[in-house]
Amino acid sequence: MNTMERWAGKVALVTGASSGIGWEIAKSLVQHDIQVVGLARRFDKLQELAEKLGKSKFYPIQCDVTKENDILRAFKWAEERLGGVDILVNNAGNTMPSLIIDSSIELCREVINSNLMAPMIFAREFINAIRKRNVSGHIINISSIAGRYPETFRVPVGIYSVTKSSLYTLGVELRNEIMACNLDIRVTTINPGGVLTDLLKFALNCGDEITEKITLLSGKDIADTVICALGASPGAEVFELTIIPQKIIVGAPVPQLEN
Ligand SMILES: NC(=O)c1ccc[n+]([C@@H]2O[C@H](COP(=O)([O-])OP(=O)(O)OC[C@H]3O[C@@H](n4cnc5c(N)ncnc54)[C@H](OP(=O)(O)O)[C@@H]3O)[C@@H](O)[C@H]2O)c1
Repeated sequence: MNTMERWAGKVALVTGASSGIGWEIAKSLVQHDIQVVGLARRFDKLQELAEKLGKSKFYPIQCDVTKENDILRAFKWAEERLGGVDILVNNAGNTMPSLIIDSSIELCREVINSNLMAPMIFAREFINAIRKRNVSGHIINISSIAGRYPETFRVPVGIYSVTKSSLYTLGVELRNEIMACNLDIRVTTINPGGVLTDLLKFALNCGDEITEKITLLSGKDIADTVICALGASPGAEVFELTIIPQKIIVGAPVPQLEN
């Protein structure tokens, strides 16, 4: 049996499925016969993806991941309608348009809430539901090389890298708690390099022409990495994966951050 076949017919919940990396992950999971519950604030974008993938394969739910009640509502819906979630992909995230030293605490808190607090709440709900159902599960956290190797980044990205580096530690702690509770849940942290998405264009204050200056990954590259982690042999856990462009960066831009 192909190792991905074990997930056929199961349910994945993907946060931030309305664009970029999350959109590609959702597409790829559906291609592997996995039902996807896609979450984001822009419901029209989620509906557009549902049209493309099929309404019995992709289920759009409007959710602001910074609101705990929205998260609880999404899990309740998935449990009642689909029997529960087997794969959690914590992908939704935001960057910060300014330096920490120039930012209000409200702005920093907003980014911490979406990039760290939300994945933590999603993981808590997911693990408790898996424990109740007594089934296998997999958590994928989308971090970043900006969080895992910030010393090599050398450009300021505000509180973003702080939240992303914490996702690594969240993965370690979840793994320890999962082992302590003797549950069958694997955890994978993925650290992508630059991917051409709205988030990157916002962070670098640039447009698509950025690809003339630096080599970037595609959302599909990251979706393939998710499939690689999910497809690991039973008993093996791909704990962390870093994916960067094969080619050398030809001219790194300096982000234009607002004061
Ligand atoms: N692009 C890169 O170079 C890169 C590199 C490393 C890691 N990453 C990570 O990849 C993940 C996806 O980003 P992307 O590059 O694909 O950017 P993107 O196209 O801008 O996607 C971000 C997604 O997050 C969702 N989101 C943001 N805040 C949310 C909130 N409060 N509630 C619900 N959904 C929310 C957005 O949906 P709505 O706006 O519709 O709510 C959108 O679907 C992020 O965690 C990012 O840190 C990106």
